[in-house]
Amino acid sequence: MALPRRLDPRLLLRRLPSTGEGSLRIKSVERSIEETDEPETRLKKELTAWDLTFFGVGVIIGTGIFVLTGQQAYSNAGPAIVISFVLAGITCGLAALCYAEFASTVPVAGSAYTFSYATLGELVAWIIGWDLVLELALGAAVVARGWSAYLQSLFGLPSWLAGDNATPDIGAIAIVLALTVLAVFGTKLSGRFTGALVIVKVTVVAFVVVAGLFFVKMSNYTPFIPASKPAEGGTGADQTLLQAIFGLEPTAFGAYGVVAAASVVFFAYIGFDIVATSAEETKNPQRDVPRGILGSLILCTILYMAVSFVITGMLKYNDKQMNTAAPLAKAFEANGADWASKIISVGAVAGLTTVVLVLMLGQTRVLFAMSRDGLLPRSFATVHPKFGTPYRITIVTGVFVAVLAGVVPLAELSKLVSIGTLFAFVLVSAGVIILRRTRADLERPFRVPAVPIVPLLSILACGWLMVNLSVETWLRFVIWLVIGFVVYFFYGHGHSRLGRGLKQASAEQGGAAAATEQTDR
Ligand code: ALA
Repeated sequence: MALPRRLDPRLLLRRLPSTGEGSLRIKSVERSIEETDEPETRLKKELTAWDLTFFGVGVIIGTGIFVLTGQQAYSNAGPAIVISFVLAGITCGLAALCYAEFASTVPVAGSAYTFSYATLGELVAWIIGWDLVLELALGAAVVARGWSAYLQSLFGLPSWLAGDNATPDIGAIAIVLALTVLAVFGTKLSGRFTGALVIVKVTVVAFVVVAGLFFVKMSNYTPFIPASKPAEGGTGADQTLLQAIFGLEPTAFGAYGVVAAASVVFFAYIGFDIVATSAEETKNPQRDVPRGILGSLILCTILYMAVSFVITGMLKYNDKQMNTAAPLAKAFEANGADWASKIISVGAVAGLTTVVLVLMLGQTRVLFAMSRDGLLPRSFATVHPKFGTPYRITIVTGVFVAVLAGVVPLAELSKLVSIGTLFAFVLVSAGVIILRRTRADLERPFRVPAVPIVPLLSILACGWLMVNLSVETWLRFVIWLVIGFVVYFFYGHGHSRLGRGLKQASAEQGGAAAATEQTDR
């Protein structure tokens, strides 16, 4: 006897083409895309490749280039910091190709989280979503602190405003809350705001390169890679995981120093992956998301190489001024061009504003996707009827980041941002290889060349940067992930929309089979 159409298992399967059991259940790509069209949780599709490139550059150029360049040239790489930037850029480029393929195949909010749900199952997806809080929310808080410090020095404001030991960082809290309000009002609006500030920031970076060239002394480039020497400190939990595992002597400079500096300046590239979190709000995601990701990454790599080359030519790498919070400005002051340092500070304040905004937008989109899936309370995923933004989760994120930025000691926690991001890159790269095998049929408007070689190289490169981070950072990272597991098993596992759907479908099928048997008898 024919089953009622509603219960036909083949139709059910098409409607719910998701597989797996328990925490290994996989959410199909079709289902992810289909769910983006539910009226309650539908985001407006209004971004173009230009908006995405702005978003990308808006979040990539920040504290990394304004601060870390000088510090790492001073302590690890010398003028060869240029090579460190190239190494970190290549690592990101490999991961960016993988992100671009995923974003063009699964154009759904949530980035690495969504991609993992489609390939590695619910538990891994949850862990990635949890891990991304380190990159996005913690990253936003770290950069908001930097913003507040630059503003304070630009206008000579009282130091308590930027949080001394006894008071919260009022500046950081204020910028986070102001940007939260902006984000609630609309993605397009935030896009325009970002666009204006990105122009200021890129102009200032270009200014550093062009004006700086006049002060370059060729003698500062010798030695280009300073000879390796024993590093100060760097023992116990401070040493890198690689050194701890192989019992290596901590060293600075030399070839190893250049690679170690690459692990640190990697922070300067964080953010290009966030372009993928906006896929669902893009008019033509298959074409524009890969363009946005790769375009912003290439632009930033070129700028970073130029800035680091010029700065190390303006000021000897071992000059103490390199090791300060504002090495770019100091390089100009050291050459008698004090006027330039104000311009650079303006660029830094503008630049860091957009980094905080885009990191927070990325965080809201990931949490939005997780709430829509029921792994976090579903009511968070409600979209504002007028503004078309996930306003509830935006407000929750804003308050959380404001508290982090305002009162939590962040200096040490900032390295967690890098390890969290690298971990996500590893899983996304692995996901590309898996999805090519499990769903060879999917249309892939953008394809990573030479799979599995390129994704494997990406995993190796990211893994290499990870083992060059400190043992302490690894311990904190593992603790964060363990907390994530606990939250999943107490909440997400039971509330998962996919899990409930699969259960219901199998109950309906069971019921249908029983009914058929009954009628047939
Ligand atoms: N890439 C961003 C920065 O350097 C996070 O601030």
